[in-house]
Amino acid sequence: MNAHIVTLPGDGIGPDVTAQAVRVLQVIAGKFGHTFSFEQQLIGGIAIDTTGMALPRESLDACLEADAVLLGAVGGPKWDDPRAKTRPEEGLLAIRKGLGLYANLRPVKPHPALAFASPLREEKIKGVDFIVVRELTGGLYFGTPKERRQHGDHVSAVDTMEYHDYEIRRIMDLAFKLAAPRKKHVTSVDKANVLVSSRLWREIATEMHADYPDIKLDHVLVDTAAMRLVTSPASFDVVVTENTFGDILTDEAAVLVGSMGLLPSASLGKGKMGLYEPIHGSAPDIAGQGIANPLGSILSAAMLLRHSLDLAQEAAVIEQSVNEMLSAGCRSADIARPGETVLTTMQMTDEVIRRI
Ligand code: IPM
Ligand code: MN
Repeated sequence: MNAHIVTLPGDGIGPDVTAQAVRVLQVIAGKFGHTFSFEQQLIGGIAIDTTGMALPRESLDACLEADAVLLGAVGGPKWDDPRAKTRPEEGLLAIRKGLGLYANLRPVKPHPALAFASPLREEKIKGVDFIVVRELTGGLYFGTPKERRQHGDHVSAVDTMEYHDYEIRRIMDLAFKLAAPRKKHVTSVDKANVLVSSRLWREIATEMHADYPDIKLDHVLVDTAAMRLVTSPASFDVVVTENTFGDILTDEAAVLVGSMGLLPSASLGKGKMGLYEPIHGSAPDIAGQGIANPLGSILSAAMLLRHSLDLAQEAAVIEQSVNEMLSAGCRSADIARPGETVLTTMQMTDEVIRRI
């Protein structure tokens, strides 16, 4: 197959890890007889420095034409001034909205060889295998009004959490579909005891459940969900929730596996096109040193193959290669124990490629 992939390496370690994921995709293309073309575009802080905008029109247009987008990371101390006109993160929000990517999938499945790296005891980590489906283009992130207000000598600020029925319906639909080939268990997370938007969320989730009789649906309040993620993480299968709750819960979920550096994500919309990125941030402290863990980005490339290009077998080959190299003891700095050999970003990728 022919596929056109736009890369948005962004800031910090984004370029370090994205380059490695591209190497892996090129090897896959060679082995399986595909042709992938790559086009690099700007986003985030580097885009602000170059063009004044966090997401230049040219970048968005290129993504709109692509089969899939592979993103690195955005942000860093250089662009952190709270009074700055534009922030790198705006680029990320703009591309999610601009591409209509309303669903963010964050799978969490710890590798047994890395159970030691988790802050939870090994027996709690055993059997953990869930996926968070985070609503990505609604809620507090995008609701209006969103502004500061001057009241004489005082100032206030407002954000708005608004959900439309169709926004809830499409994300619940995806959650039920994802659960079907898994453990058939959806946990919908809300704050229905306080928020009216959550009560609508719960009402629609319950109503839609009628169409999926073989899937179990639980409603859990977000505070309880935060607790269960550390007390019984193995009890989850598919977790579906609104934008802000999903943001918070996925960072919590990410540390279960031992390192943020390991986890991929996919942002999907109506069609096949999607945006794929590791869930770790730009880690400016280690940027450009060639020591970042590339596995989050490489596993994001696997998700890209599966969801946007329908290349499930190729995706599985990457995931299997990553599993094998971790089982064989290959370690980047973030997951190495004292005394273990530490591999560079490039060497980690070499170990994956060797096994493809
Ligand atoms: C994430 C990030 C972003 C978010 C930031 C960088 C805007 O934390 O993808 O989870 O809050 O969505
Ligand atoms: Mn986040």
